[in-house]
Amino acid sequence: MQVVLFAVQSVDGYITQRQTAGDTFASAADRAHFREAIRACDACVLGGKTYDLSKARMRPEAFPTLRRVVWTRNPESRAAESLSGVLEFTNESPLETVARLQADGRQRCALLGGGQVNAAWLEAGLVDEIWLTVESALFGEGTPLAGSRGQPGPERQLLLREIKVLAEGGPVLLRYEVKK
Ligand SMILES: NC(=O)c1ccc[n+]([C@@H]2O[C@H](COP(=O)([O-])OP(=O)(O)OC[C@H]3O[C@@H](n4cnc5c(N)ncnc54)[C@H](OP(=O)(O)O)[C@@H]3O)[C@@H](O)[C@H]2O)c1
Repeated sequence: MQVVLFAVQSVDGYITQRQTAGDTFASAADRAHFREAIRACDACVLGGKTYDLSKARMRPEAFPTLRRVVWTRNPESRAAESLSGVLEFTNESPLETVARLQADGRQRCALLGGGQVNAAWLEAGLVDEIWLTVESALFGEGTPLAGSRGQPGPERQLLLREIKVLAEGGPVLLRYEVKK
C-alpha cells in the first residue's frame, strides 16, 4: 500500500495560519487539486484534532469508498461516531494501521495530518510520497508540517518528482518521494 502525505502550507512551513486552527487559508486552486487527488485514495488517516475540524468535509457520503482512520488516545470515547468499514477511531501504531489496511486490500492511503500524525508516520518510515501545496504567503508561526510547535520534527531526505503551478502567482504543488 502506498502512503501519500497531503498538506497545504505557507512558504515558511506552517500548516495553520498562526493560532487559527484549520486550513481556511488554502486557495481555491489547492482545494480543487485536493478533491481530485483524494478520489484516487481508498483509505486515509487523520489525527483527532484534524478530524474534529474537518468532519463536515470528510463525511462518509462525500467519499463513500474512502476508509477513514482517526488517530486518538481515547478511541472508546468516540466509538459512537464510528461506522463499520468507513470511519474508525484507533490508538494503534502507524505500522499496525498499515498492516490492517493492507489486509483489507487498500492500495493508496492518504495521510491527512495534522502535524502530530505526519511526524509519527514519517518517524515510522511509512510515508512513500509527500504532495505539498505551498501557498504564496508567510505566516510567521503556526503548526509545523510534521511535529508540534517548539518541538523538533523528523528528518528525512526527499527526491523532488514534480513541480506544478496550480494558479498564476501560486500556489505551487511539489511532489516528493521519501527516500527509504
Ligand atoms: N494545512 C494542512 O494541510 C492541514 C492538514 C491537516 C491538519 N491541519 C491543521 O493542523 C491542526 C492539527 O494539527 P495537530 O498536530 O495539532 O493535531 P493532529 O495531528 O491533527 O491530531 C493530534 C491528535 O492525534 C491524537 N494523537 C496524538 N498522539 C497520539 C498517540 N500517540 N496515540 C494515539 N493518538 C494520538 C490525539 O487525539 P485525541 O486528542 O483525540 O486523543 C491528538 O490530539 C489543525 O488546526 C488542522 O486544521 C492542517
